[in-house]
Amino acid sequence: MSLVNTKKMFQKAYKYGYAIGAFNVNNMEIIQGIVKAADELKSPIILQASSGARKYAGSLYLKKLVEAAVESTDIPIALHLDHGDSFELCKNCIDSGFTSVMIDGSSLEYEKNIEITKKVCEYAHKYDVTVEGELGSLSGIEDSVSVEAEKAFYTNPEQVEDFVKQTGVDSLAIAIGTSHGAYKFKPTQKPNLRFDILEEIQLKLPNFPIVLHGASSVVPDFVDEINNFGGKLGNAIGIPEEMLKKAASMAVCKINVDSDLRLAMTAKIRKNLYEHPENFDPRKYLSCARDAITEIVKHKIINVMNSENRAL
Ligand code: G3H
Ligand code: 13P
Ligand code: ZN
Repeated sequence: MSLVNTKKMFQKAYKYGYAIGAFNVNNMEIIQGIVKAADELKSPIILQASSGARKYAGSLYLKKLVEAAVESTDIPIALHLDHGDSFELCKNCIDSGFTSVMIDGSSLEYEKNIEITKKVCEYAHKYDVTVEGELGSLSGIEDSVSVEAEKAFYTNPEQVEDFVKQTGVDSLAIAIGTSHGAYKFKPTQKPNLRFDILEEIQLKLPNFPIVLHGASSVVPDFVDEINNFGGKLGNAIGIPEEMLKKAASMAVCKINVDSDLRLAMTAKIRKNLYEHPENFDPRKYLSCARDAITEIVKHKIINVMNSENRAL
């Protein structure tokens, strides 16, 4: 099967109350591990590359690796640009065969965000490429922030209808309490997502696909394994899976996972090298890492996305 855009994936996900897992890719083992999991569970998936990933692997390498992966399966796969920060970057990805792009104007003034998102949509739609925009701030919210100031971080439901109408965007990333990386909450904080805001947004935008970034659970077993084998990760805390599962049953059609993949790989590589100090063959510890990716992606597909057997 060739790469697809996210249109049909999201329509079905919305209708049947599940989400598509969007997994960040940086190298061959990650791509192979994710696609094996999705293929075995017959789940549609999104493979996404950040500009950091493109810098690390080279965009041509990433594109060719994804093409090879797509040839090995008939599940629907979209290749998505994660956090595009300029029109030129989005255009470059569209021109080189990405089927979906994100233009992240969330740090800009509202009107500037509309302007750049609209420009990307106009270009992308000519090539049948879908576009994700973002409204709201994903940085972690400190304990000390007042209720009034806290409001500024979250997506304002009063803006979403106008934003979607003016830009023509196909999906919208929102801020309801998730954040990037492995330190989403302080140990003194209770992990919380603002489902009331999600509900308000869903009412304003019926049948419209919503995206959650920063949605790793920061699996405690991986954190412990890393720390047990020489790592120092401190108080890494993520989003509880039941909350993500609930979001997937609502308007959330795309859930981004990167940190949990990094943690899974790092844990297994550390353990493998510790247990086999004589080994200096990267294929041995990288195949452990690849298997760990398959395992965690399967876990997410079944326990968070609910997207098993949805590839038909
Ligand atoms: O949202 C960001 C992703 O986790 C990608 O991170 O820029 O380090 O590749 P990166
Ligand atoms: P995590 O850091 O929670 O995995 O989020 C990844 C993400 O949102 C990529 O865009
Ligand atoms: Zn993100």
